[in-house]
Amino acid sequence: MKILNIVGARPNFMKVAPLHRAFGAYPHINSKIIHTGQHYDAKMSDVFFNQLELPKPDYFLGVGGGSHTQQTAKIMLEFEQVMEAENPDLLLVVGDVNSTIACAMVAVKMQVPIAHVEAGLRSGDRKMPEEINRILTDSISDYLFITEQAGYDNLRQEGVSEAKIHFVGNCMIDSLVHYQAKARKTNALQAFNLSKNEYVLMTMHRPANVDTAEGLTHILDIIEDTLPHKKVLFPIHPRTRNNAERFGLKDKLESLNGLIISEPQGYLEFLNLMENAAVVITDSGGIQEETTYLQVPCLTFRDSTERPVTVELGTNQLLADLNPATVHQKLREILDGRTKQGTIPPLWDGQAAQRIAQILSKLSN
Ligand code: UD1
Repeated sequence: MKILNIVGARPNFMKVAPLHRAFGAYPHINSKIIHTGQHYDAKMSDVFFNQLELPKPDYFLGVGGGSHTQQTAKIMLEFEQVMEAENPDLLLVVGDVNSTIACAMVAVKMQVPIAHVEAGLRSGDRKMPEEINRILTDSISDYLFITEQAGYDNLRQEGVSEAKIHFVGNCMIDSLVHYQAKARKTNALQAFNLSKNEYVLMTMHRPANVDTAEGLTHILDIIEDTLPHKKVLFPIHPRTRNNAERFGLKDKLESLNGLIISEPQGYLEFLNLMENAAVVITDSGGIQEETTYLQVPCLTFRDSTERPVTVELGTNQLLADLNPATVHQKLREILDGRTKQGTIPPLWDGQAAQRIAQILSKLSN
């Protein structure tokens, strides 16, 4: 039974790594890895392959950046050739990036069954490219593996039959569990001369937050407001760095006293930095889940989340109102210890990939 697993962008690698490992326990499964090359910088891609002990991909499509249409179309053209050469029994895609929907569309047109890991998540915000990718991918997938109850509710509401939906837990958390001890041994904090709880960890890359001068200025104001209380460590995504230059905000960014700007961090280093942060401020999807598992307070700079369990059970709080006064107040509450204590959501136990492999292993029997 041949399974092609797609990785393309940074948040995909830590989801596919445990799956590829879990498939390895089944001699009749031939699991191959296809890297579309959506993310291509060493710090956005290679480091994850190394740290997550993923083998060199069987195919690297090297598509790179471009508009969403260009990127999606390039992936489809390249991936069609892989499908023709490999003739797999199943395509496995994870998450919600352009590589996810592009490869799923190729497979469905060739009548190859699709498994979507992290299915059913919905933010309700169709202006997010990821929301469109999620809806479309789910609608053409045959096996929908979900991480939380909301995934089930959303899919059922969209008319997906119950038989297709499998509540298995969270593959991203599988990697966290697997690598937590190793992450603690990295010298990520020493590298920035930081100690536990001494800093706020920040990531920001969503188009809605960083693609306008106004949005990015807002982020800088909030950092400036935080600095009297804590140092801020900001590993900066290429999109955000490019935009800061484009909007003439680079000098301001580099002049803030107490703000530490760094290159994107490796997987292990970033886990360590999250676990020891006083609070994490982010607009990422995955980081909302990782901080929930680590029980570290998280402020998410978005007015919606496709991962509601991180708010209902976890340590996540949404900041729909980016007014500096509101942010300031939330931050003070957390730093003063007046914040909610989270719990770990059901089935986020490091075994999700094994559950998926067990279900898929039976398909050929
Ligand atoms: C993509 C995903 C997003 C995910 C994010 C994680 C989509 C629609 N979005 O957004 O869901 O949260 O990855 O990082 O798929 N760039 C580099 N080097 C790289 C990668 C990108 O310089 O290795 C630059 C590109 O020039 C590009 C920009 O960063 O213009 C954005 O990259 P892109 O892959 O288009 O989307 P992300 O914002 O990374």
